[in-house]
Amino acid sequence: MAMNGAFLRILALLGMLCPLARGSVNLYLSGDEVKKLLGLTADLYYVRDNQVNSYALKFNLPVPADINSLHFTWRSSMPGVRYRMSLLSENTRILKKPETNISLAGEVPLAESVFRVNLTCSGQSNAEVGVHIQLNVTLHSAQNYTVLNFRRRKMCMINDEPIIKPGTGSVNNSSPIVRGESDYSVSNSTSVFYIAVGVACTIIFLIAMAIAAINVHSIKQNDRIRTATDNYVPRSCRTRYSLFLICSVRKFFIKNLAHWFPPAYPSLRRYPNMTEPVADVRSQLSDICIQRTEVTLGDVLQEGTFGRIYHGIVVGEDRAEQEVFIKTVTDQASEEQVLLLLRESCMLRGVHHRHVQTITYACLDDGRPMTIFPYLNHGNLKVFLKHCRASETHTHQILSTQDLVHLAIQIGKAMQYLGKRGVVHRDLATRNCVLDEGLNVKVTDNALARDLFSGDYHCLGDNENRPVKWLAIESLVDKHFSSASDVWAFGVLLWELMTLGQTPYSDIDPFEMASYLRDGFRAPQPINCPDELFAIMACCWALSPEERPKFAQLTACLQEFHKALGLYI
Ligand SMILES: *[C@@H]1O[C@H](CO)[C@@H](O)[C@H](O)[C@H]1NC(C)=O
Ligand SMILES: *[C@@H]1O[C@H](CO)[C@@H](O)[C@H](O)[C@H]1NC(C)=O
Ligand SMILES: *[C@@H]1O[C@H](CO)[C@@H](O)[C@H](O)[C@H]1NC(C)=O
Ligand SMILES: *[C@@H]1O[C@H](CO)[C@@H](O)[C@H](O)[C@H]1NC(C)=O
Ligand SMILES: *[C@@H]1O[C@H](CO)[C@@H](O)[C@H](O)[C@H]1NC(C)=O
Repeated sequence: MAMNGAFLRILALLGMLCPLARGSVNLYLSGDEVKKLLGLTADLYYVRDNQVNSYALKFNLPVPADINSLHFTWRSSMPGVRYRMSLLSENTRILKKPETNISLAGEVPLAESVFRVNLTCSGQSNAEVGVHIQLNVTLHSAQNYTVLNFRRRKMCMINDEPIIKPGTGSVNNSSPIVRGESDYSVSNSTSVFYIAVGVACTIIFLIAMAIAAINVHSIKQNDRIRTATDNYVPRSCRTRYSLFLICSVRKFFIKNLAHWFPPAYPSLRRYPNMTEPVADVRSQLSDICIQRTEVTLGDVLQEGTFGRIYHGIVVGEDRAEQEVFIKTVTDQASEEQVLLLLRESCMLRGVHHRHVQTITYACLDDGRPMTIFPYLNHGNLKVFLKHCRASETHTHQILSTQDLVHLAIQIGKAMQYLGKRGVVHRDLATRNCVLDEGLNVKVTDNALARDLFSGDYHCLGDNENRPVKWLAIESLVDKHFSSASDVWAFGVLLWELMTLGQTPYSDIDPFEMASYLRDGFRAPQPINCPDELFAIMACCWALSPEERPKFAQLTACLQEFHKALGLYI
């Protein structure tokens, strides 16, 4: 199968990274074993010709509930390679100490052979238990042991319970499940979800591995290109080639994953109806209208050709003063632009979520209507990021990767919520987010964004000004929007975060975007962007909407990555 071929090429590349060393010890998971654990057929090498694949070792592979033994294949080309092994379960009450069918110390066999590690659950609790397998092998010299650490996360279920297997869609909510050492309970359906997240993160890991391999592999050939362009290499073959592999691998995985996830997105609903007659937009706002006298305009925070955002104060019914953002237009604005402000300000009305900013008041008294939103003191996220980038060259870096991932998680949660409510945002980008000093971020509507960030919008021959560089291929070509196209935009938003507010595809003509994307090009990996994060972005940019991850998966993966970053620091 072609997909398999691509994956095998990646593994082959991983092997080629390492020059052939003295002697040769091989240790790998056979195709059958990888198929059982990950659903694809390919050997996964931990040690190949004496070279340790640290990417593979770093990965904590999930072991589903219905798999009770692991099989490793190994052989040495010369006698006298010794090993010592130790096995450990993080919670022996739930998972017995793992056992193996070879002795704990000895010599690596000369013929290719398999050893088994049994993972036996006690059947007393539902939980995920960490397993450590340590193998010390005299790889490079007779005296020195090379330490190989394998980590697994084994799902254990209470005895006599139906094990949830791929394909059986039934979900039983009656039995609580405990994850690891923590004491919160979630339902069985959640356990399916966690397994699924594990698998989804596996994909991302493998993609990251592939990217790393290809990048390392191609550094030499690309040296010239790399130095010729300072920041990134939008049109280099490297970007295209790795994306081809990413997409192939992902496609392959998705086929095997399909049964883990409920299909399709909730049916789409436009919110609100953009074609409503004029009177309706104003009357829609009547319940939150306040008097002009209750509004005090403060500083202008952002200014476009006709739109403005002010900091201001609103005196509420209880006479309490409230700090607010005020979106309004100047006298130059046409009636059409006024209506657009009102309509777009209502976009997220009725949504209540910690990370969503919605209109609280409107003031329609005179010719210049205002829409009013809760105040967040760091203001617009894109402006904030650009400011950080500018000051970065002078002072130390203000935002860490962990901070940026934290922002992404909050935005992901907001989008997950919107998706559940059937709301399609259609213009997710850092310019449509606001944040406070605690780096709490909220997704907001796109009212005035076309005017305030005119460089981010383009007309493609028609009169509609669209965020071309953020649009999924189906939105660009067929004007079709869905949660999946929001996922695409979220990928671009991640890219914006990691570049501190750069404009994506800045040197691509908006008219060429569709064919550029169809040819397999995507935004390149930003400098200093970890492979794992770039892999997450790349997944959001799958051509086919069904192949893109869901927001629930994205936030879960980002959270895992955030946690991992915490551990490294
Ligand atoms: C492997 O080597 C490490 C470091 O030398 C040591 O701490 C560990 O106990 C060894 N493990 C086994 C199973 O021999
Ligand atoms: C250990 O088990 C595996 C698979 O169950 C088997 O292929 C292998 O021969 C066994 N090894 C020994 C030393 O018994
Ligand atoms: C491991 O599990 C297999 C069945 O999967 C069983 O036949 C074998 O006896 C077990 N080995 C050990 C060492 O527990
Ligand atoms: C074993 O490892 C130590 C330190 O890691 C190194 O100094 C020594 O040269 C190694 N010995 C051999 C025989 O490779
Ligand atoms: C869930 O499990 C309980 C017992 O554990 C059983 O009585 C019930 O029928 C199950 N429900 C479904 C939907 O499988």
